[in-house]
Amino acid sequence: MIVNTELEQKGNLFPSEIIKYKKVVDTLYFTTKNNVILQVTVVRDSVIRFRYTTTGKFDNDFSYGITIHASRGYNFLEVTEEETHYVIKTSKLICKVEKLSLQIKIYDALDLKLINEDELGFHWEESYEFGGDIVKMSKVCQRAESYYGLGDKPVGVNMKGKRFENWVTDSYAFGKDTDPIYKAIPFYTAIQDNKSYGIFFDNTFKTHFDFGQERRNVTSFWAQGGEMNYYFIYGPKMEDVVANYTDLTGKPHALPPLWALGFHQCKWSYFPESEVKEITNTFRKLQIPCDAIYLDIDYMDGFRCFTWDKNHFPDPKRMVKELENDGFKTVVIIDPGIKIDLEYDVFKEALDKDYFCKRADGPYMKGKVWPGECYFPDYTKPEVREWWSELFKELIEDIGVKGVWNDMNEPAVMEVPNKTFPDDVRHDFDGNPCSHRKAHNVYGMQMARATYHGLKKFAYPKRPFVITRAAYSGTQRYTSTWMGDNVATWEHLWIANVQAQRMAMSGFSFAGSDIGGFAEQPQGELFARWIQLGVFHAFCRVHSSGDHGDQEPWVFGTEITDIVRKFIELRYQLLPYLYTAFWDYINDGIPILKSLVLFDQEDVHTHYRSDEFVYGDKILVCPVLEPNTKGRRMYIPRGNWYNFWTDEMVEGGKEMWVDADLDSMPIFIKEGAVIPKYPVQQYVGEKQFNEITLDVYYKVGKETSKLYDDAHDGYDYKKGRYSLRTFKFTGKENEIILQQHKEGKFDAQYSNFRIVFHNLPFKITSFEIDNVKVDLQESNGNKHQEILVEKSFTEIHLFGDE
Ligand code: GLC
Repeated sequence: MIVNTELEQKGNLFPSEIIKYKKVVDTLYFTTKNNVILQVTVVRDSVIRFRYTTTGKFDNDFSYGITIHASRGYNFLEVTEEETHYVIKTSKLICKVEKLSLQIKIYDALDLKLINEDELGFHWEESYEFGGDIVKMSKVCQRAESYYGLGDKPVGVNMKGKRFENWVTDSYAFGKDTDPIYKAIPFYTAIQDNKSYGIFFDNTFKTHFDFGQERRNVTSFWAQGGEMNYYFIYGPKMEDVVANYTDLTGKPHALPPLWALGFHQCKWSYFPESEVKEITNTFRKLQIPCDAIYLDIDYMDGFRCFTWDKNHFPDPKRMVKELENDGFKTVVIIDPGIKIDLEYDVFKEALDKDYFCKRADGPYMKGKVWPGECYFPDYTKPEVREWWSELFKELIEDIGVKGVWNDMNEPAVMEVPNKTFPDDVRHDFDGNPCSHRKAHNVYGMQMARATYHGLKKFAYPKRPFVITRAAYSGTQRYTSTWMGDNVATWEHLWIANVQAQRMAMSGFSFAGSDIGGFAEQPQGELFARWIQLGVFHAFCRVHSSGDHGDQEPWVFGTEITDIVRKFIELRYQLLPYLYTAFWDYINDGIPILKSLVLFDQEDVHTHYRSDEFVYGDKILVCPVLEPNTKGRRMYIPRGNWYNFWTDEMVEGGKEMWVDADLDSMPIFIKEGAVIPKYPVQQYVGEKQFNEITLDVYYKVGKETSKLYDDAHDGYDYKKGRYSLRTFKFTGKENEIILQQHKEGKFDAQYSNFRIVFHNLPFKITSFEIDNVKVDLQESNGNKHQEILVEKSFTEIHLFGDE
């Protein structure tokens, strides 16, 4: 045993020496003299779970974070005993467990390099007040090690030197460095010496992470209760770490309907019906694409969920239908607080069925939210989730609402100092009864889960769309998310950028900020810059509190309106590209946004970059985050990139100035890329088009791009009715070969390809489609950079002259 008197005096306890070892299939148990058991489970060759108990017995193994669909299984496992330690070997990792201290060291199995090492390792403090332990883990923070992840923290992408808390919190007008805010995602990735690993601390109590803040050479994490229970995930590529974490905690159960990737407009609140219509009509009149309109709390009758204010919305079904005819989907807000009102059937039913949360001694958990005093359903009880799901029948099936927005689900309680339930509130926790200390961080997740199941059932055969504010690891399986109540300031534009990147590398790609800021009102310039960033986030919605004036794209004058339109149009053109990135995300767990460190971890210059990111895998974006500027300095990652606006090529691996007037922003395309584009539509499905554009960016060498497509809604794609095209580009001095491989049974509505070549160093003189020579005049209308291919080719061969 390692004696650390100072810490021991502070009440810390440590495991003593191992006296027993047992192996059951993929799980090993090491028991110490003082009744600590370390359970090591080899989940995959590169994923190992470490779980500790201090009582000689483990509690029921239950997790909301880990999905049953996670892939498991390893190729190789060998355990050997040496004099001072045990050695666990998989094909990717070697893990040593010290006999005297239970401390862990983890090595890369191939080059035997040390990747991660316990400092004190597992230790704990007994909690007299609540029982159980405050469980702690400390690891050595290696030289030049950097840390990323942890969900929505409003700080620069690299977290080195900082400490954080995870406790989902309603955080109106939070700021840079405010901690904690809305989400609890206890997962980080680290990188050191070009090797990346991740740690998912699957503990729903309040957790803390310290990345070398308290002690420069120590990284630690701890929780107020529950088990020390973490998954160690090895890369060495950071993208594989994130993909593996996303696999463990789950990918979205289905693709979103394509309209959900369109542009959304929201405000607190649009009412009455005439105002909603005025907004949607203006979008169409000004030809600014938009797919969804939101109704905030004022559509309800006295803020009672699942009711309508019939004065303002006399016939919701008709209105929703009319909006739909005009290409708008209606999304409505649903909060967890249920107004105490015996005349209100939702309240009455939940009361009769005993579905509301109760305090330790039995009274109901009563708290104030928008409707005044409320009770709150215990969404951690399966029966309650079932009931909640059924409540959506009328809204979705009958009225025709297409999406539901879950808010205040931290859960937020007004006029109390801790902004939420007291600790003693009881929860079912799926048959593992506990206090709010344990259930708090998953409350919102379980609400969103129940909402998702309701929508899935009643929207069938269409796909559901849900958005949530609170989240714990795994919430991405059910819903999209936004970052809560931000502010219309330049600093918040910076925050929105780092948050979206951070969420993506925390397994949650379907995320976005309130564009323009929720509190206060932006100047036109800030709004335009925010739209430019927002169109590159998977969830793209303007929202504002409405207190300080309007925030629709047309309220800032025509110059701004035109800029906003231009960027929303670009989003709609790039929908097939985003949809393809989403496909990669739900299949392989690949984040839709890639911070530069995730994109190119080998280049240490990327380790501290926060502003630039790669959208999908081919488009480099960098928002302009300051007023009154005609451009900015930015880092271009290694490789050759084309300026999207000018086609000028730049060589990466360096920082440079990029021009970007207010109507522009720095966007670069990776050389060799094939970028698919739809025509501009006012909403998804507005147009039937039989032609898709492929923008091809010349390169000497090879590059692979993808294009995914399906019916844009419904589940047929799960039965193979999708189309996944792989484009292989090969560029030579006077020649290009573009090969296409198509997989899946779906025939897209387009059969023609307009192929636009960027930066061809030669004039096209002739070309062949599938080995047949084509008349150049007819197929490119005499343009030297463009050809029209009116069939699904497998190979295009293009020849040119200087
Ligand atoms: C919360 C939400 C915000 C919403 C408001 C009223 O502040 O975060 O988006 O508009 O409540 O429902």
